Amino acid sequence: MGQLRMDNVQKRFGDTEVIKGVSLDIANGEFVVFVGPSGCGKSTLLRMIAGLEEISEGEILIDGTVVNDLAPVKRGISMVFQSYALYPHMSVYENIAFPLRVERLAQPEVDKRVKRASDILKLHERLTHKPGQLSGGQRQRVAIGRAIVREPEVFLFDEPLSNLDAALRAEMRVELSKLHRELEATMIYVTHDQVEAMTMADRIVVLDAGFVSQVGSPLELYHRPQNTFVAGFIGNPKMNFLPATCTESDETGATVQLSNGASIRVPVAARPGLEGQALTLGIRPEHIHVDEGDLVLEFTPTVVERLGIHTVTYSTLPDGNGTFTTVLEGTAPAETGKPLGHGFNAADCHLFDGAGAAFSRTAPMADTPPSVLPTGPDHTQ
Ligand SMILES: Nc1ncnc2c1ncn2[C@@H]1O[C@H](COP(=O)(O)OP(=O)(O)OP(=O)(O)O)[C@@H](O)[C@H]1O
Ligand SMILES: [Mg+2]
Repeated sequence: MGQLRMDNVQKRFGDTEVIKGVSLDIANGEFVVFVGPSGCGKSTLLRMIAGLEEISEGEILIDGTVVNDLAPVKRGISMVFQSYALYPHMSVYENIAFPLRVERLAQPEVDKRVKRASDILKLHERLTHKPGQLSGGQRQRVAIGRAIVREPEVFLFDEPLSNLDAALRAEMRVELSKLHRELEATMIYVTHDQVEAMTMADRIVVLDAGFVSQVGSPLELYHRPQNTFVAGFIGNPKMNFLPATCTESDETGATVQLSNGASIRVPVAARPGLEGQALTLGIRPEHIHVDEGDLVLEFTPTVVERLGIHTVTYSTLPDGNGTFTTVLEGTAPAETGKPLGHGFNAADCHLFDGAGAAFSRTAPMADTPPSVLPTGPDHTQ
């Protein structure tokens, strides 16, 4: 079993609070991905689960037992880091077998486990090689092999693929998903990579400065972000936000007016009496269509990127309100410096109150696949 519970877990380094009360239940066999901006506490939380970092407050339970004071080796957990830290003078076999040597397991058992791990990871032809003779992806597989042989209930991965090039990363991502299915173990995985998070996770945990901002399946977070933080974090390029003023509202929707005077009624569970309030309208770049939609706004792209399958445009908003990004289908008729009709539908819109909390959307979700383009140059600043 690999069931994990965190109950109001907190971490302080001196006076600095880094984890500010995280409560989370992770089921046996679940694949959970932690995402969040740099410094939000992902690695710290993982290290606390592994037992490499003391818990300042709260409890961590594995299969119902509090492990706060249990030594790392006794927790039934294996952790794989970004840097694979292999022993260069040892063969692949000995690198994988290392934790079993420490445990003084009998040779036949070591053989059996190393063989199983190397079969799963397709390393059986490399067992006599030294790490220096391997590619980056193979080295990372050795590091994963070393985690597998311990037969843990829970695997912890801290950005294990971020040192690999894009092609190898895609390959290893698929390998890890297969590994998860084969081992049926609980996996907690930290990444900055949207594609990894969206494709591998059963559930994604979005962390914001030591708090859990939202937990949900990848598509729940994509379609129903609870706040502007998650709305802006999940999806790439990020959601566009436009300042708006409410002119009419009830339980079935809210009409908002944008700074250019245009209005749109958004189907959300609002409430009467929001008239005059400053709200934020959110619309994803992939939901923009040239000249088509319930509302068409004219902006002039300052940058146009043609990727073949998509055309990405960036326009500067009037009044210094940031950038408006689109991901248009195919080779759209967008040109730098030429005004373009940015159309979108009310059903694709998100609406947030003055504190950034989302109103629940009432329109059925269009089944648009999430945009997970590779991160390119940042034109949004
Ligand atoms: N040993 C430590 N002493 C003091 N502060 C620390 C220590 N370890 C981490 N921190 C602080 O805790 C915060 C969270 O760090 P952590 O490494 O968990 O972030 P992260 O989400 O993993 O970031 P990244 O995405 O950059 O890896 C940071 O502000 C960091 O400076
Ligand atoms: Mg980290």
